Amino acid sequence: MDKQVSVAVIGSVNLDIVARVREFPVPGETVTNASLSRFGGGKGANQALAAHRLGAKVYMVACVGDDAAAEEALQTLRSEGVDLSYCHTLADTSTGQALIVVNEAGENQIVVAPGANAVFSAQQLKLPATDAIIAQLEVPLNTIASAARQYKGFFCLNAAPAKPVSSEILDRVDLLVVNEVEAQVLGDDLSSFQGLLATTYGSRGAVLSRDGQRVASALPPKIEVVDTTGAGDAFTAALTVCMAGGMSPADSLEVACRAGALTATRAGAQSSPTAADIGW
Ligand code: RIB
Repeated sequence: MDKQVSVAVIGSVNLDIVARVREFPVPGETVTNASLSRFGGGKGANQALAAHRLGAKVYMVACVGDDAAAEEALQTLRSEGVDLSYCHTLADTSTGQALIVVNEAGENQIVVAPGANAVFSAQQLKLPATDAIIAQLEVPLNTIASAARQYKGFFCLNAAPAKPVSSEILDRVDLLVVNEVEAQVLGDDLSSFQGLLATTYGSRGAVLSRDGQRVASALPPKIEVVDTTGAGDAFTAALTVCMAGGMSPADSLEVACRAGALTATRAGAQSSPTAADIGW
């Protein structure tokens, strides 16, 4: 791409506490063979970093608490050069934290204590001038709706985690990214959606469609899965950066599938590749 794309990511910042186990415990079971790690996380922060690593100028628009977890959660974004000047520290508030269990197959189960993400209000929202916005659903819907009203550029919504979204937001979205579960939750709202819809199917690839018509489809490369956490975030960020930069939908989808797959080859949610890693 000739020009550097600028992106504002409106979303969550979490500290991820990850337990690796052979198998997920069943309800009531205690598993005692876990190894523990801590990573930066939050769908917003993961997407911001992924877009940055693909060469975009990225602003993280978010809220963290006034605790030690905030700096740990933001450390990788800060050290790699994501702009944090739109990231607010809220007094007497905890930073979001996620408890993640990853099994031998690299699948995960995630429980989020949202902390500051849950009180990121529309009043706190200030948007830098950018080519694109990416939002997800780990901050209040009112805040996303306010961004949708204010912003005039390319708007990507990753409707994750799965929950219903108002038509006010969906009508403004240019690119909607969902997995199969999120697609089911949006249900009928997807049939009336006017923008570009990207549906991800994990190792079975992804499809781009508009008005129910397939625009492009792509398969990820064959990989050795270590941890699928953050793969969808890398996919969303890559698709947005490529499309906002003027790449064709089919080529953008190829790059996004590669970005998602490579993220799953490494531990943690912020293991997304650089443009060079994916040969772009
Ligand atoms: O998409 C993965 C992310 O979901 C994790 O980093 C976790 O923090 C949750 O927000």
